[in-house]
Amino acid sequence: MSKTALKKFNSFGIEASCDSFTTFKSEAELSNWLAENKKNPNKVFVIGGGSNLLLIGHIPLEFIHADIQGISYQDNGNDVLVKAGAGVNWHQLVLETLDKGYFGLENLSLIPGNVGAAPIQNIGAYGVELKDIFVELDAVEIATGDRITFSHQECDFAYRYSIFKGSLKGQYIITSVTLKLSKLADLKLDYGPIRKVLTEANKETLSPKDVSDAVIKIRSSKLPDPNELGNAGSFFKNPIVTTEKYALLKETFPELVAFKVDDNRYKVAAGWLIEQAGLKGYRLGDAGVHKQQALVLVNYGDASGKDILNLARHVSKVVLEKFTVTIEPEVWILGEATW
Ligand code: EPU
Repeated sequence: MSKTALKKFNSFGIEASCDSFTTFKSEAELSNWLAENKKNPNKVFVIGGGSNLLLIGHIPLEFIHADIQGISYQDNGNDVLVKAGAGVNWHQLVLETLDKGYFGLENLSLIPGNVGAAPIQNIGAYGVELKDIFVELDAVEIATGDRITFSHQECDFAYRYSIFKGSLKGQYIITSVTLKLSKLADLKLDYGPIRKVLTEANKETLSPKDVSDAVIKIRSSKLPDPNELGNAGSFFKNPIVTTEKYALLKETFPELVAFKVDDNRYKVAAGWLIEQAGLKGYRLGDAGVHKQQALVLVNYGDASGKDILNLARHVSKVVLEKFTVTIEPEVWILGEATW
């Protein structure tokens, strides 16, 4: 596929090319094609909304795009099972379920990308992760075209992780995802500024739609719209350090922002580390550290994949030197260079 065509398929808006690009509109079509063509999983890359990708130069792979639409509902009294095709836009799913009065996705509003990609890194925001409402997913095995269902347990979810980033990386194409939502609201307001924003709205009773509106407001104020400024959301993961390491850091940097994971571990806000390292708003050519949220790298126009990668390496190096903490990419890096 030509460089300009692939630019539209990654939210960084970067020019890159690949060996071929094939779009499938249904699971049956995809499964039959793979059964006939027997693809080598190492030669294939599955592209969804392209919102968590850094493409570099030519990618010598066949790209497969599962553009499977459709949302169906199974009413089970107070709960509803929602099955959405991999190609459904995530935020459209959030809005549609909220409109129907089904709750659970409100904190995950405005996350870019498609449904099929959501389980891969167990997307999360404002105190909720996909795993909290996930039931199962359907997938097709690349090597055979066989269809298979993965249960919650089989997905092995953790922070920004699932088995599809681990031992099964690159082996399956997710075709649909089933979630369990509720007709009864159970608002989660304790993460970050949600409660503050809602208090400012000064409402007597709060609905999940209000929470969604607050999340949209917070995200829009910090995270750049990929249609206006190329980016892939958080470029880095928040590093997880031992409690001992956290205590040492806190002694040297009393203002350090970190959250307790369990008795042994703390999650450090990488955005804080990057900002304190003096890199918020830093620019290398057309590649930049976002001015409002240091965890996000942006393409000011003509940055290449390599430019973004060079900036990311610089950021990581400076943070390591100052804090002795290693930060690693959350985005998938693909092409002529690796992390
Ligand atoms: N902070 C700074 N400077 C910055 C950015 C952050 O000091 O430039 C500090 C602030 O003190 C803030 C803390 O870091 O209180 C945490 O920041 P924020 O709440 O914005 O969240 P984050 O840790 O930067 C994570 C996710 C986001 C998600 C938000 C909200 C990761 C890698 N990122 O960001 O997810 O939207 O929490 O839940 O876990 C994404 O994955 O692409 C993404 C945007």
